[in-house]
Amino acid sequence: MIYLDNAATSFPKPDSVYDEMQKCMKEYGANPGRGGHAMSIRASMEVMRVRESLGSFFNIKNPMQICFTKNATEALNIGICGFLKDGDHVITTSMEHNSVIRPIKTLERDRGIEISIIPCNDFGEIDVNDIKKQIKTNTKLIISTFSSNVNGIVMPVTEIGNLARENGLVFLLDASQGAGSFEIDVEKMRIDIMAFPGHKGLMGPQGTGGLYINEELSLLPVLYGGTGSHSEIIYQPEMMPDKMESGTLNTPGIIGLGAGIDYIKSIGIGNVKKKKYELVERLHTGIEELKGIKLYSKNSIDMNSGIVAMNFDDIDSTEISYVLDKVYGIATRAGLHCSLLAHQTFGTVKSGIVRFSVGIFNTNDEIDATINALKEISTSA
Ligand code: ALA
Repeated sequence: MIYLDNAATSFPKPDSVYDEMQKCMKEYGANPGRGGHAMSIRASMEVMRVRESLGSFFNIKNPMQICFTKNATEALNIGICGFLKDGDHVITTSMEHNSVIRPIKTLERDRGIEISIIPCNDFGEIDVNDIKKQIKTNTKLIISTFSSNVNGIVMPVTEIGNLARENGLVFLLDASQGAGSFEIDVEKMRIDIMAFPGHKGLMGPQGTGGLYINEELSLLPVLYGGTGSHSEIIYQPEMMPDKMESGTLNTPGIIGLGAGIDYIKSIGIGNVKKKKYELVERLHTGIEELKGIKLYSKNSIDMNSGIVAMNFDDIDSTEISYVLDKVYGIATRAGLHCSLLAHQTFGTVKSGIVRFSVGIFNTNDEIDATINALKEISTSA
């Protein structure tokens, strides 16, 4: 199998991720923060080490402001629903995933939240001035993805962060695509809230993710319950991360995530970015030479987080993806990628898009085999 679906979940993981998860389950698989015994304390300390590692990775000064979640969707729901109040106005982009669009549309319908969705151009690029023009007196929040999960386009994150800060607005970044291969610095980029998955570019297992919340903000939790702390009080503790972390944590998953981040740190994030781009460039260039294709992604190291998005004329993307899988053993993702508005932007709601998303363990030979498969498909189509 040639695995080119890393934007959905990275595969394989570094060996250390499998090893550390197994070690956790076998050697210290107790409940962190729920006991005074040695194994529970060890589990707590290991979880804390991962929190600190994430803090240094994203330049988050106080790692206690990071709470673990089961994925970026859960983190985004906490960030959005925990922050917005009735009557608030939120600005976002047409490149957002359903994990942003569905919560805000539901809040619009049920709680009178106002929304402005800024259209992007044919490549998904946004003009920050268009965001600026929509700011009004009740605007509270700007939400942007770091990079589109459909075509990998990288958004002008620092400019959006600066715009938010200059106007006293909160900036929420969805770092689902790009975290792990692009430098993300919450201080430099003026990010107030950031959701990230553990199972994509950070190389951890599924069931992991997190949310960073600037210390100056106080969000409502979406989940209430046991935190292992302050059991003497009947209400949810106010302190972070406990406020947002009710219920037993996914300790083996978090440990795996920690090993994933250690791996990225050991090879250097710049090298991850370079390696992924070399693969993207090779694939892009190979596809460009084929007849009857449409490309929706940019061949640019700084503007693409690792995705080649294409179609054959008007052939349904799911048919191409099916043939790639069944005949050539190449895993891609077709259809609408849970991002209807992005597909409206590209004009691909009917056909979907064939998405190839590379990872650091892909090889040039795999890319060449993929180009050859597409060549064969193009001549038989
Ligand atoms: N959001 C993930 C993707 O783009 C699952 O495939």
